[in-house]
Amino acid sequence: MAFEKFESLSEAEQNSTMQRYYKLQSKIYDATRWSFLFGRNQIIREIPLDPQGSWNILEVGCGTGYNLINLAKRFPNAKLTGLDVSTDMVELSKKNTLAFGERVNVLEQPYTLGDTAWNGQLDLVLFSYSLTMINPQWKDLILQAKADLKPGGYVAVTDFHDSRNLWFKKHMANNHVRMDSHLTPLLIQEFTPVVNLVKLAYLGVWEYMVFVGRK
Ligand SMILES: C[S@@+](CC[C@H](N)C(=O)[O-])C[C@H]1O[C@@H](n2cnc3c(N)ncnc32)[C@H](O)[C@@H]1O
Repeated sequence: MAFEKFESLSEAEQNSTMQRYYKLQSKIYDATRWSFLFGRNQIIREIPLDPQGSWNILEVGCGTGYNLINLAKRFPNAKLTGLDVSTDMVELSKKNTLAFGERVNVLEQPYTLGDTAWNGQLDLVLFSYSLTMINPQWKDLILQAKADLKPGGYVAVTDFHDSRNLWFKKHMANNHVRMDSHLTPLLIQEFTPVVNLVKLAYLGVWEYMVFVGRK
C-alpha cells in the first residue's frame, strides 16, 4: 500500500488539508462517527488516573469535543485543553463543551514539535483518531507528547490500526487516514505500555488500537 503521498506534506499543507476536509465533514461528524470510531469510550475508561485528581489534560485533534466531554465527566476536577486545526471543528467543540465553563479550553492551533507551552506539565495527552491523519508529522507529535508529560504521566491513543482489505485502506487513504500498523511500534518504544490492544471492527473489516503508555 503506497502511503508516499502522505510523506511529502508540510505541516502547513497538512493543516490546510484538514481545514478543507472538515468544512463539510464537521456537519455530519457526530451523526456518523459513532458507527466507526470504536475505542473512544474505552480509552477514557482505561486512563489510570484518579478520577478526583486535579489533572492537566490535553487532547490533540479534539474535533467536535466528544472526548473532552467524556474526560470532563470522568475527571470533574481536571483542567482540559483541546487543540484542533479545523476552524469548523473548533467552533463545534467550543459550543459542545460550554457547560464545563473555564475548565475546558479549546484552541485553534496545531500541536507542533518544539512547542514549549506545556513542557513537562501535562498528566495526560490524548490522541483519539488524530494521529493517523497527521501525516507525516505523527512521529514528531508522539515525541512532543513525551516532552510535554510530567514524569509518570500518560499518553492515551485510540485510532485505526490496519486492515487486510486493500480497498478499505485505499478508501481511508483517500480520506487522509494512514492505516499501516505504524503507531504502536513508536508508542511502545517511547512509553511503558499499560494497555496495548488491537481489536477487530465489523468482524475484521479493519482493526483499531487502544494504547495507554506511561512516561
Ligand atoms: C477524526 S477527527 C477526531 C476528533 C476527535 N478526537 C474524536 O475522537 O472524535 C481528527 C481531528 O484531528 C484534527 N487535526 C488534524 N491534524 C491536526 C493537527 N496537526 N493538530 C491538531 N489537530 C489536528 C482534525 O481537524 C480533526 O478535527
